[in-house]
Amino acid sequence: MGTNDISILAIESSCDETSASIIVNGKVLNNIVATQSVHEKYGGVVPELASRAHQENLIPVIQEAILSSGITKDQLSAIAFTRGPGLMGSLLVGVSFAKAFARSLEIPLIDVNHMQAHVLAHFIEDPRPAFPFICLTVSGGHTQLVLVKSHLQMEVIGETQDDAVGEAFDKTAKLLGLPYPGGPLVDKYANEGNPKAFKFPVTRMPGLNYSFSGIKTAVLYFLRDKLQENPAFIDENLPDLCASIQYTLIEMLLIKLKEAVKQYGVREIAIAGGVSANSGLRETLGELARRKGWNLYVPKFEYCTDNAAMIAMAAHYKYLKGEFVGLDVTPLAKMKI
Ligand code: KG4
Ligand code: ZN
Repeated sequence: MGTNDISILAIESSCDETSASIIVNGKVLNNIVATQSVHEKYGGVVPELASRAHQENLIPVIQEAILSSGITKDQLSAIAFTRGPGLMGSLLVGVSFAKAFARSLEIPLIDVNHMQAHVLAHFIEDPRPAFPFICLTVSGGHTQLVLVKSHLQMEVIGETQDDAVGEAFDKTAKLLGLPYPGGPLVDKYANEGNPKAFKFPVTRMPGLNYSFSGIKTAVLYFLRDKLQENPAFIDENLPDLCASIQYTLIEMLLIKLKEAVKQYGVREIAIAGGVSANSGLRETLGELARRKGWNLYVPKFEYCTDNAAMIAMAAHYKYLKGEFVGLDVTPLAKMKI
């Protein structure tokens, strides 16, 4: 490790994953993630419990990242952290630690936008998309279409006006009696079901924006009526219900993606966020890309869900540009790309 090497410790604590990663000269060395299982029994992330779990997990996660990287804390060039968007209490744990650590090591501090980082997860490993590209970021907290012009120049060209698509998966799964988070289970049952068995409305928003709150209500009323006729309706139709709901959500995602491609004339397409693990979405998008001649980029799953490696990647590009923040920096629950 010479004096010209750039080594950064990055911390992610915006929602319910506590994560740390070390990046050296743009190469991610590790990605340590502690997932909080405490939320399962509540059927969603409980902010107060998330903050407490971050407080408990953060130091062990950072220690593991530093130890397994083979470098020492004195060799670090900077400390990076997720500034937002996210849960205020969760963000505060990471930001406070990052400030104190940077101060004690007398090295610069780098603030990272979580949504930019989801996009930059595509630069952790090959193949890397070429600029400009369009990234569809889909998770439990976000649904955005981002036009990516360079590593740090991005423009949100469409986004959800209410629920995120992951939320739509999880909330409809809950109506079907599935445990939290229901997204992966809907995916699993959908594989054995008929996507055309039931028809749910495709919500169309103006421009490239999304709305995913309507499907939850549609499924609620649909199930209420069906269950009145037949109390075993869900049990008897679970795969078909999951397949039909998933089909509708994928349809809504892809309609706007196709519109965005047409509007911006871009053929480099990337997908990020936890919902990109969905096998139906991967398959449909893969086919669409082949048909349309798009180059499609899907990162490894560990870089799709919330993780510090993507924060580290973003921090590396900010370091190169000398974009640092002072110790008076504060987290932002809402933060624009
Ligand atoms: O990116 P992520 O780990 O956390 C944030 O929300 O930021 O995304 C979690 C979301 C949850 O809503 C979860 O249900 C959904 O991603 N998800 C899936 C699948 N795997 C995770 N949704 C549908 N199909 C999946 N296979
Ligand atoms: Zn996220």
